[in-house]
Amino acid sequence: MLYKDKILKIKSISQGLRLLYVEDNESVRLTNAQLLTNFFTHIDIASNGLEGLEKFEQNHYDMIITDINMPIMGGIEMIERIRQIDNDVTILIVSAYSDTEYLTSSIKAGIQGYIIKPTSMEQLIDALENSIGYIKAKQSQKAYQISLKNQVDSESKKRQETEALLISQSKMASMGEMIGNIAHQWRQPLNELGLVIQSCKSAYEREILSADFIDSRVSKGMLLIEKMSSTIENFRNFYSPSKSQSNFSLIDSINKSLAIFEGAFRNNDIECVLEYEEGEDWRFYGYSDEFEQVFVNLLSNAKDSLVEHNNFERIIYINLKSVNSRIEIELCDNGIGLSNEVKKRLFEPYYTTKDDTKGTGIGLYMSKEIVSKHLKGSIEAYNKTYELRGKSHNGAAFKITLPHVKETEDAL
Ligand SMILES: Nc1ncnc2c1ncn2[C@@H]1O[C@H](COP(=O)(O)OP(=O)(O)OP(=O)(O)O)[C@@H](O)[C@H]1O
Ligand SMILES: [Mg+2]
Repeated sequence: MLYKDKILKIKSISQGLRLLYVEDNESVRLTNAQLLTNFFTHIDIASNGLEGLEKFEQNHYDMIITDINMPIMGGIEMIERIRQIDNDVTILIVSAYSDTEYLTSSIKAGIQGYIIKPTSMEQLIDALENSIGYIKAKQSQKAYQISLKNQVDSESKKRQETEALLISQSKMASMGEMIGNIAHQWRQPLNELGLVIQSCKSAYEREILSADFIDSRVSKGMLLIEKMSSTIENFRNFYSPSKSQSNFSLIDSINKSLAIFEGAFRNNDIECVLEYEEGEDWRFYGYSDEFEQVFVNLLSNAKDSLVEHNNFERIIYINLKSVNSRIEIELCDNGIGLSNEVKKRLFEPYYTTKDDTKGTGIGLYMSKEIVSKHLKGSIEAYNKTYELRGKSHNGAAFKITLPHVKETEDAL
């Protein structure tokens, strides 16, 4: 590269940089400082190591050019002390000492260049070119790290926001589910209550309204009301989160989830069969409500698919197997089944084939998150043909595989 080009190249980088120049010999200092003003817009001067160190402690510099042999504090000691504060600043030594001992100790102190005095203009420019290249590389590395960090920060923030949104939507969805299920469960007792009230009116009209009749209707009515209020109580308990992790029975949790659908299954003629080996240990350590949330999502999907398919016999078949160190819970329905497209995408957030009022498409996404992240298991979906009471059925199946995790017995 031409001499002129080199100067231009150095200038293009050095112009915005701050330089600390440490030199005890006044005439050398003046000459070099004059020369350096061609490159640096901001130069501070110190006449010994101590003064240099003090300036460094009070200001920010991108580069230091220093002599070695100086009164009060020498260049090597100053560099060693500066290095304790800042490992990055670029340091260039200009010294009359070509002695290897000086050279080694200055390299140990961590410098980027060494020029022997008396310096020629050319020597100085070469050394500046090297050191400035080093500063530029550091700067772009730093800028890269900062932009990388910003990118990571903004991505993880976005991820947290989406996650929070999904959780709140899933909560809303299960609220909707809960209200829908209460409605199902209330339909029958509400009808009956209506009949009880009407029977009082018609008994009065037919003039057969006796005290006994009133008594029997009131107690029937009270019974129905109790049933309805216990439904609400059950739902309230179901949807209040578990306080702590425990060894809970998977069978109890499945039955609890099924009870939630009792009314909906009855009104839609859905039969549910649960099979598992008695006497096996079906306990699992974790939050029972998380497992129940997953199960409710699967039951709700099975119900939708059965209603949509509208076949004669509607069956949900659940079976539990203990395989080596794992528990496999399979839920099959004989509804519409899974097309290839649905099978590929059903665990994606917001993927739904249902209309706006019926589905948001987060049920299975949340279920997968819970199973894999919280329960440390896995969930898969496939089509399956299964035998039940000598008849063959086919539809969608979901399998949850959980590790056999239990807390130590003494914690029970
Ligand atoms: N048992 C099943 N049989 C057939 N298709 C199913 C079954 N379960 C899920 N799917 C398909 O997978 C899609 C995604 O299910 P997911 O539970 O995530 O959302 P959704 O039920 O549509 O809405 P949400 O659960 O948020 O109310 C469903 O829209 C449906 O197309
Ligand atoms: Mg769903």
